[in-house]
Amino acid sequence: MSNPNIRMHPKNFNVFMSGPPENLKLYTKNLLPGNKVYSENLIKFNDIEYREWNPYRSKIAALILEKPNTNFLSNDLKCLYLGASSGTTISHLSDIVKDGIIYGIEFAERSIRQLIQNTTNRNNIIPIFGDARYPENYANKIFTDIDLLYQDVSQPNQAQIAVANANYYLNDAGKLILAIKSQSIDSIVKSEEVYAQEKRILETSGYEIIESINIHKYAANHIVLIVSRSRSVRIGS
Ligand SMILES: C[S@@+](CC[C@H](N)C(=O)[O-])C[C@H]1O[C@@H](n2cnc3c(N)ncnc32)[C@H](O)[C@@H]1O
Repeated sequence: MSNPNIRMHPKNFNVFMSGPPENLKLYTKNLLPGNKVYSENLIKFNDIEYREWNPYRSKIAALILEKPNTNFLSNDLKCLYLGASSGTTISHLSDIVKDGIIYGIEFAERSIRQLIQNTTNRNNIIPIFGDARYPENYANKIFTDIDLLYQDVSQPNQAQIAVANANYYLNDAGKLILAIKSQSIDSIVKSEEVYAQEKRILETSGYEIIESINIHKYAANHIVLIVSRSRSVRIGS
């Protein structure tokens, strides 16, 4: 491969990029050089090993490529990740939030086994075998407050699950990032109607949609919402 000239992403903390704007590639610095988590490319540049971050495999990478205005990454972020699967996206977050912690909830036995295997040497990931529909059931394994709640579960009631977890864990200034797959909610109704319905659930539950980003280019029938507690709820609390 020719020299990719990897440089810092101008906006997103600890995210790196190469290539022209119309064909940007994303990377994170590999926390465990030499180790892959999925089939990602490992690339050495200026003596640092980077993992290429595939937007077709990871909705956060897709979101970043769609240029949201909101910054949501930092070095010491405490993150609750719902639907961690076998570790693709959570491993990139682990590269990014080096001094933070990420609790990864997954309810499929096979996936949690792979997640544990894939992330066992990543000390900032805590895999938790749990069902995101019942946030109180894993409360005894979460020992910090949460700055970022990320949800990517293909379930029919995605907004309700997000609200239940945000009410339980998210700190007042925290952000919720929610991938919504319309097909998991209703495969007959138009995607736009499904998205509108999920947004209404969030808003009537005391949350404010900061940004709604269409990532159809990378993941069919998906949008990603960036959400915070409504200002009136924060002031009133
Ligand atoms: C689309 S995949 C997630 C992919 C992952 N976020 C990534 O980018 O690496 C959805 C995952 O959510 C999990 N899931 C679905 N419903 C869940 C629930 N109620 N509680 C916990 N995990 C759930 C599934 O088992 C699956 O692994």
